[in-house]
Amino acid sequence: MTRFEQRIKARLDNIRALGLARNLLELGISGEGRVVYQGREYLNCAGNDYLGLAADPKLVAQFYDQLDEKTLLSRFGPGSTGSRLMTGNHGVNRELEEGLSRLYDPGRVLVFNSGYHANIGILPALAQRGDLILADKLCHASLIDGMRLSRAKVIRYPHMDYARLEALLAQHRKAYGQVFIVTESIFSMDGDTANLGRMVHLKEQFHAVLYVDEAHAVGLRGRHGLGLAEEQGMLEAVDLLVGTFGKAWAGQGAFVVCSQVLRKYLLNTARSFIFTTGLPPVSLSWLLFVMKKIPQMTRQRRHIRQLADSLRKGLLREGLETGGNSHIMPVLIGAADRAVQVAETLRKRGFWITAVRPPTVPAGTARLRLSLTAAMKEEDLASLPRLLADAIMDMQA
Ligand SMILES: Cc1ncc(COP(=O)(O)O)c(C=O)c1O
Repeated sequence: MTRFEQRIKARLDNIRALGLARNLLELGISGEGRVVYQGREYLNCAGNDYLGLAADPKLVAQFYDQLDEKTLLSRFGPGSTGSRLMTGNHGVNRELEEGLSRLYDPGRVLVFNSGYHANIGILPALAQRGDLILADKLCHASLIDGMRLSRAKVIRYPHMDYARLEALLAQHRKAYGQVFIVTESIFSMDGDTANLGRMVHLKEQFHAVLYVDEAHAVGLRGRHGLGLAEEQGMLEAVDLLVGTFGKAWAGQGAFVVCSQVLRKYLLNTARSFIFTTGLPPVSLSWLLFVMKKIPQMTRQRRHIRQLADSLRKGLLREGLETGGNSHIMPVLIGAADRAVQVAETLRKRGFWITAVRPPTVPAGTARLRLSLTAAMKEEDLASLPRLLADAIMDMQA
């Protein structure tokens, strides 16, 4: 081992000693909300395939049934051949962006390679030195990285504390050129929902720009699955709405909805848009395919809501510490190693559950993050609250 590697190994050992080591596990996708690990099937309570589309064999077969020789390369090609500003922009890109723009009308849409690309590209492109970003304390790592890459001053306000946000706006607004308010709509680790109406009111009062990451809400919330801003009647008031395709859309990539001028500016300046190979035609065709179906998936949206309501009630009945009001729910454990132990116990009972530990969540708030999919049935989840309560109790004994 070189001296450099020895130094890195010492750091890795430290991560291990803190109980924070991560490993790659090889999972197979199975139907009805299940995954396969080393030949055994588990109910997948840790994934983001919220509408169950990634594991729907009929739907996937229907998609590939469209494949023919004439469109093999243009619609099913595996590579885009370049960045979108060079040779990687194809008809499927335009169709997807135009289709989404119609759904989010009057917004205009720009597609990025992932939610991570979108958040680390848009924020630095827009927020400059002399500007201020006010962000919810629990914003996703990609938003935090985007803020870090910008030259703006960043202040993070306590989670969903809008009185504090208002106080910060009142205190700092005048000293900065542009002020951005950044939030998630459904928070990825807590499953609770922002009050976008309140935020819109503040952004209007203080002439700020509102940036909302709807990664966990698109497909699921709102009448047409456009997200929480649709559900709360705030679509037109959000300045930049980011949705991701990797979760309920069961694909890859992300999009931002904004004005025409912002779209044009971003495609000229967002570095994570410019300096990367565009998504391949096959991925974009899948997104076009599901885009036509998602607005009608009211039954799935209702079903996942019902599943979440009953599971949350069950967890509370067992005296577990949970929260949120969506298909994502945390079960607070506290210490990282304990969260890992409880997850392992549940795994033995057939539930694929992952412990979420720092730095993903603040120290001392390690938790199990339960996430549901519309592919599950009520009875799949019936025994889970009791099993969880027993596992936590056994560990404390
Ligand atoms: C709130 C939020 N934004 C962005 C992302 C990143 O999206 P992607 O997986 O498409 O990079 C995630 C992913 O977990 C997320 O939870």
